[in-house]
Amino acid sequence: MTAQRTRVLSGIQPSGTKHLGNYFGAIKQHLELQHEHPGEAYYFIADYHALTSLRDAAALRASSLELARTYLALGLDPDKALLFRQSDVPEVTELAWLLATVTGMGLLERAHSYKDKLQNGIKPTVGLFSYPVLMAADILIYDATLVPVGKDQIQHVEMTQDMATHFNEAYGSGGDLLVRPEFRLSEAPFVIGTDGQKMSTSYGNTLPLFESGKRLRKLVSAIVTDSTPLGAPLAPERCSVFALLQLFAAPAELERISSHYRAGIRDGEPFGYGHAKLLLAEYIEQHFAAARARKEHLLAHPDEVEAVLKRSAIRARQTARATIDRCKRACGLA
Ligand code: ADP
Ligand code: TRP
Repeated sequence: MTAQRTRVLSGIQPSGTKHLGNYFGAIKQHLELQHEHPGEAYYFIADYHALTSLRDAAALRASSLELARTYLALGLDPDKALLFRQSDVPEVTELAWLLATVTGMGLLERAHSYKDKLQNGIKPTVGLFSYPVLMAADILIYDATLVPVGKDQIQHVEMTQDMATHFNEAYGSGGDLLVRPEFRLSEAPFVIGTDGQKMSTSYGNTLPLFESGKRLRKLVSAIVTDSTPLGAPLAPERCSVFALLQLFAAPAELERISSHYRAGIRDGEPFGYGHAKLLLAEYIEQHFAAARARKEHLLAHPDEVEAVLKRSAIRARQTARATIDRCKRACGLA
């Protein structure tokens, strides 16, 4: 198997409403990569993985669809990228078993993510422990070469590289049955939350992507700032609101906002955090206006979402079938 071409793959957990951290930290890059590698971008909703922490069929179904709508609304182009449910390609669980048989316990025992999840009170099932094996199968079954992920997932991609090597050594008879992937970190790996920590669903400090109007302004107004009185000079580099504005405003505009901060004045009037927050709410609202409208449309047309998921799964399955057949033959199966 030679792998000169780039094939992009990533899995996304269908949990919760997506927020600015998810967008700037992950989704935006996924969407850019579909244009850089049209026809070679595979994105899937990690619903088999979600079962390790979610046991509510209706909730899983709903959040999988919500995630699909979110990606389509934000610009996933079904002519350039595939968007499918992990569970619509059951071959991935077959490959996970083959990989499990060449994976040492020690490799999985070193996984940070497993230890973190136990600390967060998730039940230590065999599924949770072997999560990295299923994740490796997700990547290897599509011959993916490039896996855009957040920092917390780097170790999982490295484990995938090890599993590919072990499998190739065991069964490859000198050639490569499985392609070793590389990870890619996004350029904006850290989006700050309303409380000044990393924005995360589990901290309850998020700004959801599709909020607007009064509700959005209310969420933005909750961003924690210091108690500098209105009209006094402010330090933009120490302000969470400014950090978030940097995600949206063009450099010249940021320069202007920054000068308002430092002067504590804008157009002869006092300028304070409240003004900066209003500005941020406007930026967010505008930036996602078109996506919000598309999401509303998709909400009213679930058949359009389902059609993309089904069509993508058929294509993804063809690739998966070829890999699993090759691997099974090499092991003496089939
Ligand atoms: P959450 O913390 O809300 O549960 P996830 O852990 O599911 O988010 O993250 C999904 C993707 O979004 C990952 O690729 C992760 O790196 C990215 N991401 C999440 N929060 C942030 C953030 N605050 N800044 C940058 N990227 C983020
Ligand atoms: N583990 C990833 C996360 O929690 C999701 C995921 C599952 C994934 N399989 C993958 C990411 C394969 C990249 C490639 O975010």
